[in-house]
Amino acid sequence: MDSFAATQRRSAEVAAAVAEQPGSFRVLTGERPTGPLHLGHYFGTILKRVRLQRAGVETFLVLADYQVITDRDTTANVQQNVHGAVLDYLAAGMDPVGTTIFTHSAVPALNQLLIPFLSLVTEAELHRNPTVKAELAASGRALSALLLTYPVHQAADIFFCKGNLVPVGKDNLPHVEMTRLIARRFNERYSPVFPEPEALITSTPEVLGLDGRKMSKSYGNAIALSMTADETVAVIRQTVTDSIRRTTFDPALRPGVSALLSVAALCLDVEPQVLADEIGDGGSRVLKERAASAVNDFLAPHRERRRELARDGDLVRAALRRGNEHANVVAESTLSEVRDAMGTIY
Ligand code: TRP
Repeated sequence: MDSFAATQRRSAEVAAAVAEQPGSFRVLTGERPTGPLHLGHYFGTILKRVRLQRAGVETFLVLADYQVITDRDTTANVQQNVHGAVLDYLAAGMDPVGTTIFTHSAVPALNQLLIPFLSLVTEAELHRNPTVKAELAASGRALSALLLTYPVHQAADIFFCKGNLVPVGKDNLPHVEMTRLIARRFNERYSPVFPEPEALITSTPEVLGLDGRKMSKSYGNAIALSMTADETVAVIRQTVTDSIRRTTFDPALRPGVSALLSVAALCLDVEPQVLADEIGDGGSRVLKERAASAVNDFLAPHRERRRELARDGDLVRAALRRGNEHANVVAESTLSEVRDAMGTIY
């Protein structure tokens, strides 16, 4: 069995344990605020985070602003993206009291954990991380020291609150592995402070963007949760389809058509094939109309709640203030245990 299959199986066991004993888990999960959250996030992570929180699992959510500058040289839209993400989380049903939503840059003690953690891994181990390699290649730039070391920073994200359950996508699995390695090495070298966290990977198929590739902020193929209904119609209309009259679901040969089908099918909770048969010989125009109304109907309640929440100008700031304050208290306490374990108390 390959390690991904093993992790998937392990994830199913962990999910069962969570359902039985939600109180014994602490979730730490995160998001890079590089753009507006989109349907891929909604189906991939947001719904699951809300469900975990409702099941009674204590949840910490980092809006990883220092991770934005791993492979780009601007923080231009970070503030706006953080603000938008908080609105989306609250609109999706996250409770800002039950969930600690915070940002890297506001929690110094979290960042300080990076220093002892960096001493526990070798340069060769950092260079071996397949996700870092892929991100480096995609960035088309020189490898920054932050890009090379951010998986260790991510271990600090997880350990500042001693998170033991990390819901992530497949591409973040190497980082969870590194986090476990850091826990083992720290505990062995000093004294047992950190749990070995479990990754929780979810079985949602990757949500396709409008060009048939994975839906991603950086590919410009996404339907943002914050778009208006008209903007949604416009981006869907721009999707490149083909002139074959009959609608079929064939991701390899018909990426645009299939992406529209799969996005609409997720929103309608049906199989893409069923929707394709229903549209039949309607052609691209009917497909696009069906897709736009499926997405807009599905997102209407979310967008309505988002608009309502946005009306209170201080709501997001208050949620972040509360989250950052609490994260600081927790991080200080962990850092003091680390000082204790390392004997660096003066
Ligand atoms: N790297 C994650 C992503 O690409 C975001 C993230 C930052 C994260 N810190 C984390 C995820 C800690 C899980 C745990 O989306």
